[in-house]
Amino acid sequence: MGSGTILDLGSGTGYLSIEIAKKISGIQVYGIDLSRQMVRIARRHARGVENAQFEFGNAADLPFEDNSIDFIVSTGSLHHWKTPARVFDECYRVLKIGKEAWIYDGCPDAFKDQADRNRIRREYGFLVYRIGTKVAELHGFAMEEYESEIKDILDQTEFKDSYHMELTDVWMKITLKKHR
Ligand SMILES: C[S@@+](CC[C@H](N)C(=O)[O-])C[C@H]1O[C@@H](n2cnc3c(N)ncnc32)[C@H](O)[C@@H]1O
Repeated sequence: MGSGTILDLGSGTGYLSIEIAKKISGIQVYGIDLSRQMVRIARRHARGVENAQFEFGNAADLPFEDNSIDFIVSTGSLHHWKTPARVFDECYRVLKIGKEAWIYDGCPDAFKDQADRNRIRREYGFLVYRIGTKVAELHGFAMEEYESEIKDILDQTEFKDSYHMELTDVWMKITLKKHR
């Protein structure tokens, strides 16, 4: 069961929102995407899943009230954002106090060390490993960019004292917590 409202920023074809909605029936999941075509596809995929809803919109201008959201997730979208500072500000505005946003984006450095490459290949299989490598190369920033550009941006937001970046397998994960 569970309750609350979850936002998926840049929800694309909707697979993540739909999986979350199916697993936790008491929650409402909203996928927001800047592409009308993606929204159409996601809505088609979500037929029959009443608690997953997809809307056209910009993550930099969220159609939600202040302090209304329990959790935000985003996968593979950050590197597309034209105004990431505004998106982070919007996350801060709509999140309830004490709640978090988990922003995942590609990072080719995840595949830099041979030991990591071997481990990912062993744990996830060859196909995931190959696709993951390509996706991370094309869909994300290098570690250097996260550590300079994205950190610089975050340091100018309300999340400045409450964010955390970590490389998790194939993703860079940025955790943002609304502390007050
Ligand atoms: C690489 S796709 C990832 C889609 C999905 N999250 C996934 O993991 O498969 C990036 C998505 O972000 C969307 N996007 C880019 N900028 C956006 C913005 N400012 N607000 C909302 N969506 C955005 C794109 O339209 C695209 O559907």
